[in-house]
Order: sequence, then structure tokens, then C-alpha cells
Amino acid sequence: MSLTSSLSSQAASKATTLNARASDNFAAKLADTQALLQRAAAEFSPLTQASSLGAEDVVITHLINSLQLDIPVFVLETGALHTETLALLERTEATSRAPIKVYRPVHESVIQFVRQEGQDAMYKSIDLRKACCGIRKMEPLARALKGQRAWITGLRQEQSAARAEVPLQDDSEVATKNLSKFNPLAQWTWGDVWHYIATHNVDYNPLHDQFFPSIGCAPCTRAISLGEEFRAGRWWWEDEAAKECGLHVKK
Ligand code: ADX
Ligand code: SF4
Repeated sequence: MSLTSSLSSQAASKATTLNARASDNFAAKLADTQALLQRAAAEFSPLTQASSLGAEDVVITHLINSLQLDIPVFVLETGALHTETLALLERTEATSRAPIKVYRPVHESVIQFVRQEGQDAMYKSIDLRKACCGIRKMEPLARALKGQRAWITGLRQEQSAARAEVPLQDDSEVATKNLSKFNPLAQWTWGDVWHYIATHNVDYNPLHDQFFPSIGCAPCTRAISLGEEFRAGRWWWEDEAAKECGLHVKK
């Protein structure tokens, strides 16, 4: 095969074709996940799903919609997302049964930060990167979670060493914040996620077809190469230990 045809066939590789491979016990896993979502919806109110519109999150929203659960979805639109992610957000808003709420950062805080520290502040130091995440993600997250009894995320154990112990239900912040966290896909593999997307024809972010397994803000996300870790394309210039934006870090 010529280099051009090999590159064009690579570019055409669908994430579904590359990744969809169900675990042997997928059917049981899916039934448990559906039961967990149903129980969460019955026992916790208000309850909401946090969606980055990544592969895991589109699966969860699809499950919520197909089970007809009354669980609204929120998206933190940081003002720095890829155009592909914004387009998927628009399509999701148009098609989802569950309401989609979009939270944006305080405009003045972003303007002031960029004026003082520059557009590329996140590359200058970890403190500046965290300050940017504070303004664009953490403050809007606090608004999104205000008054909630529980939230649902797409965290999976396989995603990184730091996430290897992620539980299906995390009650560690009940005492301090009266907030539980459900991670219904905690035990799903990447193959399971794509098997679900392929078999249910779920709309997904086309960046996944370009070797972006984990997608965050555009300046802080790149494609990965063969053999690299799942989250290697996130804040790739930082040490492994620093690579969380704070959304899932416990004080
Ligand atoms: S992050 O902390 O590094 O950004 P990651 O991208 O792996 O997290 O996503 C983990 C989970 O956090 C997602 O499945 C989703 O539940 C939540 N999440 C991440 N980014 C967003 C976002 N922009 N809006 C809403 N939820 C998000
Ligand atoms: Fe800012 Fe990057 Fe954090 Fe997005 S991921 S909020 S652009 S530092």
C-alpha cells in the first residue's frame, strides 16, 4: 500500500471499528449499569449527569434517555472546547430527551485572567494552569452541583492509575457536602464503551476518530500515538501526578 493510501485509510479509521470489542460479561455489566442508574434516579433527588461529551458520557446520556430517567445533564462549556465538541453539544441539545444545561465561566474572570497572564498561561506553570481550570471549570462546576444530592460521571477504573479504585458509588463527600457520586461505567473497558456506541449507533465526538481518546479543552488536549497511555494527550507537558483538573480531586 502506498504511503498516501495508508494514511488516508488511517484517517478514515472509525473509533468504532478500531475499539468496539465487548467483554465476555458485557450483557451482565450492562444490566448492572442500567439497574444502578434506575436506583440512583429513584433514591437521589436532585440528581444530574456531568457530561464532557466524551465517549463514556455519550453512552451514559444514551442510557438515561433510553431508560426514560428524569436526570438532567450538564456540560461545562469552558470557552476553550474544540469546534467538534461544540457541534456535538448542539446536536445533543437538539436530540436529547433529558434536558441539557450548559454552564459557562464568568466572562469578566476569563477576560481578566487572559489579559494578565496571556492566552497560553496554562503552559507557563502548573499554578497558572490550575488557575485557568479554576475559572473555566471549577467555579462553573460549583454552580452546576449547587443543591444536588448526587451526580453521575463517566470515570472508569481503566483510565489511569489514579482512577484504578474508582467505585460505582462514592459517598466520601456525603458528610462534608451531602453529595454522592455515581460512576456507572467504573468497570467498563474501552472496548465495552465502543461496543455500546457501535451497537446503538450513538452520536459521538469525531475527534475520537483522530486518536483523541480523552477530550478536554482544545489547548490542553492532543492526539496520542500507539502505545501511549489513555490520558497521555491531556496536559501532556505536565507530570503524571498533576494531570487532573480538580473536577475529581478530593480535598
Ligand atoms: S478531567 O477531570 O480530566 O477533565 P475527564 O475528561 O477524564 O476529566 O472526564 C471525567 C468525567 O468528568 C467525565 O466523564 C464527566 O463526567 C466529567 N467531566 C469532564 N469534563 C466535563 C465537562 N466539560 N463538563 C461536564 N462534565 C465533565
Ligand atoms: Fe484552561 Fe486548559 Fe484547564 Fe481548559 S483544561 S480550563 S484551557 S487550563
